[in-house]
Amino acid sequence: MDLEAVNSMNYEQFLDIFGNIIEKCPVITAAVWSRRPFLSFCEVEDRVSEFIESLPTSGKEGILRCHPDLAGREQASGMLTKESQEEQNQAGLTSLTSKERERMMLLNTEYKQKFGFPFVICAKMSNKDQIIKELTSRVQNHPSVELLKGIEEVKKICHLRMQDILCKGSPLPTKL
Ligand code: GUN
Repeated sequence: MDLEAVNSMNYEQFLDIFGNIIEKCPVITAAVWSRRPFLSFCEVEDRVSEFIESLPTSGKEGILRCHPDLAGREQASGMLTKESQEEQNQAGLTSLTSKERERMMLLNTEYKQKFGFPFVICAKMSNKDQIIKELTSRVQNHPSVELLKGIEEVKKICHLRMQDILCKGSPLPTKL
């Protein structure tokens, strides 16, 4: 996909393609569309980051709350977005032993009780052992640190989702 194609998309096309670069937050993509023309693909990501950074703490927490638990209920019931499904698959979170699954569940619950949002990590840059280790360590952090870390991870996830879209090369949504 080239930049010209992206810059010439109407907002429906832009949302169809980039609507889930931030998990279940198409409103961010919809807002960023008004910033065209983009001079580079990096600029799309920069605008997304800018939008996120402009939000108050409650807005940033809201973004984190749109993320499903890793190896959680949505995964077990096949309710994940296709992006999240692929990321969790790739990190090995869909093939946990029952002991690992139980540990993840306990840690996810502890994390959410403490912070009021789920544990977010760029799963694709990690694997199940590292994720369990990170979760065990991050649950000890101060809430302000975890908000920053969670949002940093959201931006990494966004970067990989953008790359994925751009490498696929389809300039327009193909709907049957
Ligand atoms: N890391 C990559 N994808 C996801 C996701 O969908 N949820 C969480 N919690 N972390 C992720």
